[in-house]
Amino acid sequence: MGTTARGPAADRRRRTAKPVGAAEFVPPDADLDTVRAAAAGCRGCDLYRNATQTVFGEGPANASVVMVGEQPGDQEDTQGQPFVGPAGRLLDRALDEAGFDRTGVYLTNAVKHFKFTERGKRRIHKQPSRTEVVACSAWLATELELVTPDLVVCLGAVAAKAVLGPSATVGELRGQVVERPDYRITATVHPSSVLRAPDRKTAYTEFLDDLCHIRDVARR
Ligand code: URA
Ligand code: SF4
Repeated sequence: MGTTARGPAADRRRRTAKPVGAAEFVPPDADLDTVRAAAAGCRGCDLYRNATQTVFGEGPANASVVMVGEQPGDQEDTQGQPFVGPAGRLLDRALDEAGFDRTGVYLTNAVKHFKFTERGKRRIHKQPSRTEVVACSAWLATELELVTPDLVVCLGAVAAKAVLGPSATVGELRGQVVERPDYRITATVHPSSVLRAPDRKTAYTEFLDDLCHIRDVARR
């Protein structure tokens, strides 16, 4: 039996240790459903410990557009599906208003477990670290490999950095299209930022404008 090191130094080592990462949990040569099932058992970083379940991407396996969020929220964590909480409802409404064909859209997140802090009975979203985004990236990479979209839409900064690297910003990508050998990439804000905006109506209009533009880009 191994013994667990104790004390402040050991705690520090554990906190700063590099996570093993999702890659070793990804089954080789598998289809999307098999990969999704494997993700349920991921222990690639510590986020699985406090979360309820892995929230994998959802949508048609042959979608031409993949939209990438940050991480599941409180409701996504309990229901096991991406974008089913308040931000998801706003995204749904905007996608419908923008005239997106939902049969062509796959929704997922950069990080597949909910990271939060507890405040009383409430679980407050906490932004995943770069280390956690990198640890989880093998799931997103596998989703993109299997879905083979034409266009990847990053929703917010965490998604943009997950897809394009740590120097990517939404400010620079908004309205732009980056060409990559396998797909094109663009970005807009995260729907949660619309919910938090002081002027929600204007923020929503701008978000909707972005999605209308992205819908046109997707048709090209
Ligand atoms: N925010 C995200 O980024 N993803 C979700 O699934 C829900 C909220
Ligand atoms: Fe695995 Fe990602 Fe969950 Fe970490 S957040 S345990 S890497 S699925």
